[in-house]
Amino acid sequence: MQTHLHGRDMITTQEWTKNEIDTVLDVALDLKRKRALGEPHAYLRDKVLAMLFFFSSTRTRASFEAGMAQLGGHAQFIESKTTQIAHGDTATEIGEILGRYNDGIAIRQVDWGVGNQYIRDVAAASRVPVLNMQCEIYHPFQILADLMTIIEYKGDPRGRTINVSYAYAESYSKPMSVPQSLILLATRFGMNVRLTRPPEFTLMPDIVAQAEENARRAHGSFEILEDFEAGMRDADVVYAKSWGPLLTTDDAARSTEISNKYKDWITDERRMAMAKADAIYMHPLPADRNIEVTDGVIDGPNSAVFDQAENRLHAQKAVMALTM
Ligand code: CP
Repeated sequence: MQTHLHGRDMITTQEWTKNEIDTVLDVALDLKRKRALGEPHAYLRDKVLAMLFFFSSTRTRASFEAGMAQLGGHAQFIESKTTQIAHGDTATEIGEILGRYNDGIAIRQVDWGVGNQYIRDVAAASRVPVLNMQCEIYHPFQILADLMTIIEYKGDPRGRTINVSYAYAESYSKPMSVPQSLILLATRFGMNVRLTRPPEFTLMPDIVAQAEENARRAHGSFEILEDFEAGMRDADVVYAKSWGPLLTTDDAARSTEISNKYKDWITDERRMAMAKADAIYMHPLPADRNIEVTDGVIDGPNSAVFDQAENRLHAQKAVMALTM
Protein backbone atom coordinates (compact mmCIF):
# COMPACT_ATOMS: atom_id res chain seq x y z
CA MET A 1 0.00 0.00 0.00
CA GLN A 2 1.33 3.43 -1.00
CA THR A 3 0.52 5.92 1.76
CA HIS A 4 2.67 9.01 1.11
CA LEU A 5 -0.20 10.83 -0.53
CA HIS A 6 -0.84 13.77 1.80
CA GLY A 7 -0.76 17.02 -0.17
CA ARG A 8 -0.91 15.38 -3.60
CA ASP A 9 -3.00 16.86 -6.43
CA MET A 10 -5.33 14.60 -8.41
CA ILE A 11 -5.49 16.10 -11.89
CA THR A 12 -5.14 12.88 -13.89
CA THR A 13 -4.79 9.29 -12.71
CA GLN A 14 -1.90 8.99 -15.15
CA GLU A 15 0.22 11.06 -12.70
CA TRP A 16 -0.38 8.55 -9.88
CA THR A 17 1.40 5.20 -9.78
CA LYS A 18 -0.48 1.93 -10.12
CA ASN A 19 0.26 1.25 -6.42
CA GLU A 20 -1.22 4.61 -5.47
CA ILE A 21 -4.38 3.89 -7.48
CA ASP A 22 -4.58 0.46 -5.80
CA THR A 23 -4.44 2.25 -2.44
CA VAL A 24 -7.30 4.55 -3.48
CA LEU A 25 -9.42 1.56 -4.50
CA ASP A 26 -8.61 -0.27 -1.27
CA VAL A 27 -9.54 2.75 0.88
CA ALA A 28 -12.67 3.40 -1.23
CA LEU A 29 -13.92 -0.15 -0.62
CA ASP A 30 -13.19 0.21 3.10
CA LEU A 31 -15.09 3.51 3.27
CA LYS A 32 -17.99 1.93 1.37
CA ARG A 33 -18.08 -0.90 3.93
CA LYS A 34 -17.91 1.56 6.84
CA ARG A 35 -20.81 3.57 5.42
CA ALA A 36 -22.86 0.38 4.93
CA LEU A 37 -22.23 -0.58 8.56
CA GLY A 38 -22.84 2.91 9.90
CA GLU A 39 -19.28 3.11 11.26
CA PRO A 40 -18.08 6.69 11.78
CA HIS A 41 -15.07 7.61 9.64
CA ALA A 42 -14.43 11.29 10.36
CA TYR A 43 -10.89 11.38 8.97
CA LEU A 44 -11.21 15.02 7.88
CA ARG A 45 -12.76 16.61 10.96
CA ASP A 46 -12.63 20.46 10.81
CA LYS A 47 -11.27 20.38 7.25
CA VAL A 48 -12.87 22.32 4.41
CA LEU A 49 -12.95 21.66 0.66
CA ALA A 50 -13.59 24.51 -1.79
CA MET A 51 -15.61 23.25 -4.77
CA LEU A 52 -15.26 25.67 -7.66
CA PHE A 53 -17.59 25.09 -10.61
CA PHE A 54 -17.42 26.74 -14.03
CA PHE A 55 -19.95 24.23 -15.40
CA SER A 56 -23.09 22.48 -14.20
CA SER A 57 -23.07 19.24 -12.22
CA THR A 58 -25.39 16.89 -10.38
CA ARG A 59 -23.35 13.86 -9.27
CA THR A 60 -19.97 15.53 -8.82
CA ARG A 61 -21.24 18.38 -6.67
CA ALA A 62 -23.58 16.21 -4.58
CA SER A 63 -21.05 13.41 -4.00
CA PHE A 64 -18.12 15.67 -3.07
CA GLU A 65 -20.31 17.65 -0.67
CA ALA A 66 -21.84 14.54 0.91
CA GLY A 67 -18.40 12.93 1.08
CA MET A 68 -16.84 15.84 2.97
CA ALA A 69 -19.71 15.84 5.48
CA GLN A 70 -19.35 12.07 6.03
CA LEU A 71 -15.61 12.55 6.59
CA GLY A 72 -16.37 15.10 9.34
CA GLY A 73 -15.53 18.20 7.32
CA HIS A 74 -17.36 20.71 5.17
CA ALA A 75 -17.50 21.57 1.45
CA GLN A 76 -18.19 25.09 0.23
CA PHE A 77 -19.85 25.52 -3.18
CA ILE A 78 -18.37 28.34 -5.27
CA GLU A 79 -19.67 29.15 -8.74
CA SER A 80 -17.60 31.17 -11.19
CA LYS A 81 -20.56 33.23 -12.47
CA THR A 82 -21.73 34.43 -9.06
CA THR A 83 -18.30 35.35 -7.67
CA GLN A 84 -15.64 37.90 -8.60
CA ILE A 85 -14.03 35.22 -10.78
CA ALA A 86 -16.42 36.57 -13.39
CA HIS A 87 -14.80 39.99 -12.88
CA GLY A 88 -11.16 38.97 -13.04
CA ASP A 89 -9.92 36.91 -10.07
CA THR A 90 -6.98 35.08 -11.64
CA ALA A 91 -6.08 31.40 -11.29
CA THR A 92 -3.04 32.38 -9.19
CA GLU A 93 -5.19 34.48 -6.87
CA ILE A 94 -7.70 31.65 -6.52
CA GLY A 95 -4.93 29.17 -5.70
CA GLU A 96 -3.29 31.46 -3.15
CA ILE A 97 -6.47 32.72 -1.47
CA LEU A 98 -8.70 29.63 -1.47
CA GLY A 99 -5.61 27.63 -0.45
CA ARG A 100 -5.32 29.78 2.68
CA TYR A 101 -9.00 29.30 3.62
CA ASN A 102 -9.32 25.61 2.77
CA ASP A 103 -7.62 22.22 3.04
CA GLY A 104 -8.32 21.28 -0.57
CA ILE A 105 -9.56 22.95 -3.76
CA ALA A 106 -11.69 20.99 -6.22
CA ILE A 107 -12.38 22.50 -9.65
CA ARG A 108 -14.61 21.74 -12.67
CA GLN A 109 -13.57 23.77 -15.71
CA VAL A 110 -14.29 22.01 -19.04
CA ASP A 111 -13.74 24.83 -21.55
CA TRP A 112 -11.78 23.53 -24.53
CA GLY A 113 -8.12 24.54 -24.34
CA VAL A 114 -8.68 26.33 -21.01
CA GLY A 115 -9.82 23.96 -18.24
CA ASN A 116 -6.77 21.78 -17.64
CA GLN A 117 -4.34 24.70 -17.75
CA TYR A 118 -6.55 26.67 -15.34
CA ILE A 119 -6.55 23.79 -12.86
CA ARG A 120 -2.78 23.42 -13.15
CA ASP A 121 -2.31 27.19 -12.67
CA VAL A 122 -4.42 27.09 -9.49
CA ALA A 123 -2.43 24.05 -8.29
CA ALA A 124 0.87 25.86 -8.88
CA ALA A 125 -0.27 28.69 -6.56
CA SER A 126 -2.01 26.53 -3.96
CA ARG A 127 -0.55 25.24 -0.69
CA VAL A 128 -3.28 22.57 -0.49
CA PRO A 129 -4.12 19.70 -2.87
CA VAL A 130 -6.09 20.48 -6.02
CA LEU A 131 -8.64 17.94 -7.22
CA ASN A 132 -9.85 17.88 -10.83
CA MET A 133 -13.65 17.53 -10.84
CA GLN A 134 -13.45 17.41 -14.68
CA CYS A 135 -11.57 19.39 -17.26
CA GLU A 136 -11.70 19.16 -21.04
CA ILE A 137 -9.01 16.43 -21.03
CA TYR A 138 -9.57 14.33 -17.88
CA HIS A 139 -12.34 13.25 -15.50
CA PRO A 140 -10.25 11.29 -12.97
CA PHE A 141 -12.86 10.81 -10.23
CA GLN A 142 -15.40 9.43 -12.70
CA ILE A 143 -12.88 6.92 -13.92
CA LEU A 144 -11.76 5.84 -10.43
CA ALA A 145 -15.43 5.12 -9.67
CA ASP A 146 -15.75 3.29 -13.00
CA LEU A 147 -12.77 1.05 -12.29
CA MET A 148 -14.08 0.33 -8.80
CA THR A 149 -17.42 -0.68 -10.35
CA ILE A 150 -15.79 -2.93 -12.96
CA ILE A 151 -13.80 -4.70 -10.21
CA GLU A 152 -16.95 -5.15 -8.10
CA TYR A 153 -18.82 -6.74 -11.03
CA LYS A 154 -16.02 -8.59 -12.80
CA GLY A 155 -13.22 -9.13 -10.28
CA ASP A 156 -9.68 -8.83 -11.62
CA PRO A 157 -9.99 -6.52 -14.66
CA ARG A 158 -6.93 -8.03 -16.40
CA GLY A 159 -7.93 -9.65 -19.68
CA ARG A 160 -11.48 -8.30 -19.59
CA THR A 161 -12.68 -6.49 -22.71
CA ILE A 162 -14.08 -2.97 -22.36
CA ASN A 163 -15.68 -1.22 -25.32
CA VAL A 164 -15.21 2.54 -24.86
CA SER A 165 -17.55 3.76 -27.55
CA TYR A 166 -18.93 6.96 -28.97
CA ALA A 167 -22.73 7.23 -28.91
CA TYR A 168 -24.91 9.86 -30.56
CA ALA A 169 -26.48 12.60 -28.41
CA GLU A 170 -28.45 15.77 -29.09
CA SER A 171 -28.24 17.67 -25.80
CA TYR A 172 -24.81 19.33 -26.12
CA SER A 173 -21.28 18.71 -27.37
CA LYS A 174 -19.91 16.76 -24.43
CA PRO A 175 -16.23 16.83 -23.40
CA MET A 176 -13.94 13.95 -24.35
CA SER A 177 -12.58 13.74 -20.81
CA VAL A 178 -14.44 10.53 -19.91
CA PRO A 179 -13.29 8.34 -22.81
CA GLN A 180 -9.76 9.77 -22.56
CA SER A 181 -9.45 9.07 -18.83
CA LEU A 182 -11.05 5.67 -19.31
CA ILE A 183 -8.64 4.45 -21.99
CA LEU A 184 -5.73 5.68 -19.86
CA LEU A 185 -6.76 3.85 -16.69
CA ALA A 186 -8.28 0.67 -18.17
CA THR A 187 -5.08 0.00 -20.11
CA ARG A 188 -2.99 0.39 -16.94
CA PHE A 189 -5.05 -2.33 -15.30
CA GLY A 190 -4.40 -4.80 -18.12
CA MET A 191 -7.80 -4.64 -19.78
CA ASN A 192 -8.34 -5.26 -23.48
CA VAL A 193 -9.51 -1.80 -24.48
CA ARG A 194 -11.48 -1.06 -27.63
CA LEU A 195 -11.97 2.56 -28.56
CA THR A 196 -14.90 2.58 -30.99
CA ARG A 197 -15.69 5.88 -32.67
CA PRO A 198 -16.48 7.45 -36.05
CA PRO A 199 -13.50 8.97 -37.89
CA GLU A 200 -14.45 12.54 -36.92
CA PHE A 201 -14.46 11.71 -33.19
CA THR A 202 -10.77 11.08 -32.62
CA LEU A 203 -9.32 11.55 -29.14
CA MET A 204 -6.15 13.56 -28.46
CA PRO A 205 -3.19 11.80 -30.14
CA ASP A 206 -0.92 12.03 -27.08
CA ILE A 207 -3.62 10.44 -24.89
CA VAL A 208 -4.03 7.60 -27.39
CA ALA A 209 -0.24 7.13 -27.49
CA GLN A 210 -0.15 6.95 -23.67
CA ALA A 211 -2.96 4.37 -23.70
CA GLU A 212 -1.02 2.26 -26.22
CA GLU A 213 2.08 2.42 -24.03
CA ASN A 214 0.06 1.60 -20.90
CA ALA A 215 -1.40 -1.46 -22.64
CA ARG A 216 2.04 -2.64 -23.71
CA ARG A 217 3.43 -2.30 -20.18
CA ALA A 218 0.42 -3.98 -18.50
CA HIS A 219 0.21 -6.80 -21.09
CA GLY A 220 -3.31 -5.77 -22.09
CA SER A 221 -4.34 -4.49 -25.51
CA PHE A 222 -5.60 -1.33 -27.16
CA GLU A 223 -7.33 -1.12 -30.53
CA ILE A 224 -9.38 1.48 -32.40
CA LEU A 225 -12.55 0.47 -34.29
CA GLU A 226 -14.89 2.56 -36.44
CA ASP A 227 -17.79 0.08 -36.52
CA PHE A 228 -20.30 0.55 -33.67
CA GLU A 229 -21.52 -3.05 -33.70
CA ALA A 230 -18.04 -4.56 -34.00
CA GLY A 231 -17.16 -2.76 -30.78
CA MET A 232 -19.99 -4.49 -28.93
CA ARG A 233 -19.03 -8.05 -29.85
CA ASP A 234 -18.10 -10.23 -26.85
CA ALA A 235 -17.36 -7.21 -24.65
CA ASP A 236 -17.41 -7.65 -20.86
CA VAL A 237 -18.09 -3.95 -20.36
CA VAL A 238 -20.02 -1.71 -22.75
CA TYR A 239 -19.25 1.95 -21.98
CA ALA A 240 -20.92 3.93 -24.78
CA LYS A 241 -21.39 7.67 -24.43
CA SER A 242 -21.33 10.80 -26.51
CA TRP A 243 -18.59 13.36 -26.97
CA GLY A 244 -18.11 16.19 -29.44
CA PRO A 245 -16.00 16.08 -32.64
CA LEU A 246 -13.72 18.59 -30.92
CA LEU A 247 -10.53 17.81 -32.82
CA THR A 248 -12.36 17.97 -36.16
CA THR A 249 -14.20 21.30 -35.85
CA ASP A 250 -14.81 24.15 -33.42
CA ASP A 251 -17.85 25.29 -35.39
CA ALA A 252 -21.14 24.42 -33.65
CA ALA A 253 -23.17 24.04 -36.86
CA ARG A 254 -20.53 21.78 -38.44
CA SER A 255 -20.35 19.76 -35.21
CA THR A 256 -24.12 19.16 -35.34
CA GLU A 257 -23.90 18.26 -39.02
CA ILE A 258 -21.18 15.69 -38.33
CA SER A 259 -22.94 14.25 -35.27
CA ASN A 260 -26.22 13.84 -37.18
CA LYS A 261 -24.52 11.32 -39.47
CA TYR A 262 -24.29 8.94 -36.51
CA LYS A 263 -27.85 8.98 -35.12
CA ASP A 264 -27.88 5.20 -35.32
CA TRP A 265 -25.04 4.92 -32.76
CA ILE A 266 -27.48 4.10 -29.95
CA THR A 267 -26.97 1.28 -27.47
CA ASP A 268 -30.17 -0.73 -27.78
CA GLU A 269 -31.12 -4.23 -26.67
CA ARG A 270 -30.04 -5.80 -30.00
CA ARG A 271 -26.56 -4.21 -29.81
CA MET A 272 -26.21 -5.00 -26.10
CA ALA A 273 -26.98 -8.67 -26.88
CA MET A 274 -23.85 -8.75 -29.06
CA ALA A 275 -21.74 -8.34 -25.91
CA LYS A 276 -21.23 -11.22 -23.46
CA ALA A 277 -24.43 -12.38 -21.73
CA ASP A 278 -23.18 -11.05 -18.40
CA ALA A 279 -21.72 -7.84 -19.84
CA ILE A 280 -22.39 -4.67 -17.90
CA TYR A 281 -23.59 -1.42 -19.42
CA MET A 282 -21.95 1.72 -18.02
CA HIS A 283 -22.53 5.44 -18.52
CA PRO A 284 -21.29 8.34 -16.34
CA LEU A 285 -24.67 10.16 -16.67
CA PRO A 286 -26.48 12.27 -17.56
CA ALA A 287 -27.48 10.21 -20.61
CA ASP A 288 -29.65 11.31 -23.52
CA ARG A 289 -32.26 8.60 -22.99
CA ASN A 290 -33.51 6.81 -26.12
CA ILE A 291 -30.90 8.72 -28.13
CA GLU A 292 -27.57 7.53 -26.68
CA VAL A 293 -29.10 4.45 -25.02
CA THR A 294 -32.56 2.92 -24.85
CA ASP A 295 -34.51 2.83 -21.59
CA GLY A 296 -34.48 -0.96 -21.96
CA VAL A 297 -30.67 -1.05 -21.69
CA ILE A 298 -30.02 1.69 -19.13
CA ASP A 299 -32.83 0.41 -16.88
CA GLY A 300 -32.22 -3.23 -17.77
CA PRO A 301 -30.61 -6.11 -15.88
CA ASN A 302 -27.11 -5.48 -17.27
CA SER A 303 -26.98 -1.82 -16.33
CA ALA A 304 -24.47 -0.80 -13.65
CA VAL A 305 -25.13 2.94 -13.85
CA PHE A 306 -26.47 3.45 -10.33
CA ASP A 307 -23.64 1.49 -8.69
CA GLN A 308 -21.25 3.46 -10.88
CA ALA A 309 -22.77 6.78 -9.73
CA GLU A 310 -22.68 5.64 -6.09
CA ASN A 311 -19.01 4.75 -6.34
CA ARG A 312 -18.20 8.39 -7.13
CA LEU A 313 -18.87 9.05 -3.43
CA HIS A 314 -16.58 6.31 -2.14
CA ALA A 315 -13.70 6.91 -4.58
CA GLN A 316 -13.73 10.66 -3.93
CA LYS A 317 -13.82 10.17 -0.16
CA ALA A 318 -10.80 7.89 -0.49
CA VAL A 319 -8.76 10.46 -2.41
CA MET A 320 -9.82 13.31 -0.08
CA ALA A 321 -8.98 11.28 3.04
CA LEU A 322 -5.56 10.33 1.60
CA THR A 323 -4.57 13.74 0.23
CA MET A 324 -6.13 16.30 2.59
N1 CP B 1 -20.80 12.06 -14.33
C1 CP B 1 -20.75 13.34 -13.87
O1 CP B 1 -19.67 13.93 -13.75
O2 CP B 1 -21.96 13.85 -13.53
P1 CP B 1 -22.25 15.40 -13.25
O3 CP B 1 -21.93 16.14 -14.52
O4 CP B 1 -23.71 15.45 -12.90
O5 CP B 1 -21.37 15.85 -12.13
